[in-house]
Amino acid sequence: MSVVKKQYKRVTVKSLVEMKANKEKISMLTAYDFTMAKILDSSGIDVLLVGDSASNVMAGHETTLPITLDQMIYHASSVVRAIERCLVVVDLPFGSYQSDPKEALRSAIRIMKESGGHSIKLEGGKEIKESIKRILNAGIPVMGHLGLTPQSIYKFGTYTVRAKEEEEAEQLLEDALMLERIGCFALVLEKVPANLAKRVAEALTIPVIGIGAGNGVDGQVLVTHDMIGMTHEFNPRFLRRYLDLYKDMSGAFESYISDVKSGDFPSDKEQY
Ligand code: KIV
Repeated sequence: MSVVKKQYKRVTVKSLVEMKANKEKISMLTAYDFTMAKILDSSGIDVLLVGDSASNVMAGHETTLPITLDQMIYHASSVVRAIERCLVVVDLPFGSYQSDPKEALRSAIRIMKESGGHSIKLEGGKEIKESIKRILNAGIPVMGHLGLTPQSIYKFGTYTVRAKEEEEAEQLLEDALMLERIGCFALVLEKVPANLAKRVAEALTIPVIGIGAGNGVDGQVLVTHDMIGMTHEFNPRFLRRYLDLYKDMSGAFESYISDVKSGDFPSDKEQY
């Protein structure tokens, strides 16, 4: 099916809803720094997520739990300085919104004021409804996140596919409908069966962006470092690698080290 794409000078939360209505799929990737964000934005990505996966990818933690609000603001402000077109979504990190709606709003305001990000994302359904409503009431766009929610990893114990059972699937659908009803502009669905994700996308008018959620949703997100192969220990079924940068970068670093050791670098032409 050929889709006539509208050109967006700037992608906004409204553009995403419009893309879904026009059956244009939404492209989203993560970014945590200026240089990567600049390449991604000029490549035409629709949405950059300053994900709390920075905790794993940038800081080397095993989970997303340790990253702080200050660290997220640092990453997000680096990304915002790089972009001209895409929408920037910033994760509220673990511990910055779960206690109560006032704390959630304070954290969301800090992200918006101090990083210049355009919207926030948080994980969860009915248990954080009041916090989401409070943030939305302050005029801050919110993206939801259901299915596998890595900030709750110690509650679930594994990173396996979620909502395979009917009861959990029905709860997820109910949460998704609630998130749309209270005013979220989009929803991430992580690692859930493709038929459930399709059902959710068809039930909502706001876009559903999937990661490990099949092709029946309105857009896709991956962690950039995974899809360009900088990380190579992580191999879930849903990941498509577009490059093998771990190999290419290691090769380049080995060549540099060898050139320095041998005295081949710098050459006559590479000095003053
Ligand atoms: O933090 C992150 O990178 C995310 C994506 C996996 C959706 O939340």
